[in-house]
Amino acid sequence: MVKISTSILSAKDRIECIKKLNTTTTDYIHIDVMDGSFVPNYQLPIDEVNKLSTYAGKPFDIHLMVDNPEEYINSLKCDNISNITIHVEIEKDIRSILNLIKSKGYKVGLSIKPKTNPTKLIKYLDIIDMVLVMSVEPGFGGQSFIPSTERRIDYIRTLKKDLIIEVDGGINNTTIKKIKNKIDIAVSGSYITNSDDYQKAINDLKN
Ligand code: DX5
Ligand code: ZN
Repeated sequence: MVKISTSILSAKDRIECIKKLNTTTTDYIHIDVMDGSFVPNYQLPIDEVNKLSTYAGKPFDIHLMVDNPEEYINSLKCDNISNITIHVEIEKDIRSILNLIKSKGYKVGLSIKPKTNPTKLIKYLDIIDMVLVMSVEPGFGGQSFIPSTERRIDYIRTLKKDLIIEVDGGINNTTIKKIKNKIDIAVSGSYITNSDDYQKAINDLKN
């Protein structure tokens, strides 16, 4: 069954949102970190992430949309991190950052934007545990799912046995239908956090 990672980006009160999520069957809490440079939005400063982790009863799935991930990775003080994911598009020594994530004992994720050629992932397959396939342009919650994502998932699925595939952006009870049997984790933000009943929204996505 597909696992659900709930993005708290669009929640009005993130502490209350996390407390509510603790009582649901969400598998992860998805933490979006944006630097205002890699994407045109600045959200979830690391100090807030560290504070939020003290309320969380679920593992953090951390998505770094930043040009300089090392400084963020080294500032994280959360004892509930499952994975840290960086972007393949950044102009940095990606392998050394992936090694830094691995050295800290977290699962290693690499994310790819909708217009980036997925062959860019190939040279990192030996070190990554998961690929986060963006199904919207990163930067904001509440956007529409890009249909060509399905074809990209099919290609990425051929690259490596046991690769965890996570999809992020515009996922609701309709858009998840075509991809839920092909992926391991679906990130969903506004569909869950704008609803009155988080557990019902999560059930709708899983079933
Ligand atoms: C977008 C973020 C997503 C976003 C998902 O840049 O990476 O995680 O919060 O939110 P929805 O589900 O509302 O598209
Ligand atoms: Zn995200």
